[in-house]
Amino acid sequence: MFHAQLITLFPGFFDSPLSCSIPARAIRAGLVRVDCLHLRDFAQDKHRKVDDTPYGGGPGMVLKPEPVVAAIRAARHRDPATRVVMLTPSGTRFSQAKALEYVEVGHLTLLCGRYEGFDERICDYVDEQLSLGDYVLSGGEPAALCVLDSVIRLLPGVLGSPESAVLDSFTEDGILDWPHYTRPEVFEGKRVPEVLLSGNHAEIAAWRRRQAIARSRKRRR
Ligand code: ADE
Repeated sequence: MFHAQLITLFPGFFDSPLSCSIPARAIRAGLVRVDCLHLRDFAQDKHRKVDDTPYGGGPGMVLKPEPVVAAIRAARHRDPATRVVMLTPSGTRFSQAKALEYVEVGHLTLLCGRYEGFDERICDYVDEQLSLGDYVLSGGEPAALCVLDSVIRLLPGVLGSPESAVLDSFTEDGILDWPHYTRPEVFEGKRVPEVLLSGNHAEIAAWRRRQAIARSRKRRR
């Protein structure tokens, strides 16, 4: 069973997405377990303070090291095999290859930040810093959800057909997915490409490959 832990100030953020569709089914089937650690529970003063103003001045608040490091320690105590990943726009970029790596690791703690970021000293207590992409989210939660979702759908037994995950866009040398069509054959004058109706599986496979390569070239540099 894959074990995920989420360190967050907003555990409720994950309730709805994890109770729908594929993640919900995977959790119900016992293929993944998700535990939330509420950062506020690790605050060390009577006001349960988790953030403070930045040294040197500037806007916003910075997450304090004491509660975050205490939460990381709790996650490692619960699951000594866990890989602790901090979500931050200044991390290395997430990819399908990373998702496959996490599936192999089997134990993942996703550390979500808020406000202006983490006190830099927290970085010494995590295994990796990961970014979803070059844009700024309001917090690490939406990024953690995307990472977790992409991992869950790759776990053995989660998707109906084992081919679906293997044939994904990106799994094979970074190539984008090919175009898909379903009924009707003609929609507002737009026809389904003739080759897909031909029943010739070799030709269909070759056409899909050409389409995927052409679109990757056009849309990705
Ligand atoms: N937190 C805020 N923005 C983020 C991003 N792009 N990736 C990961 N964590 C983030």
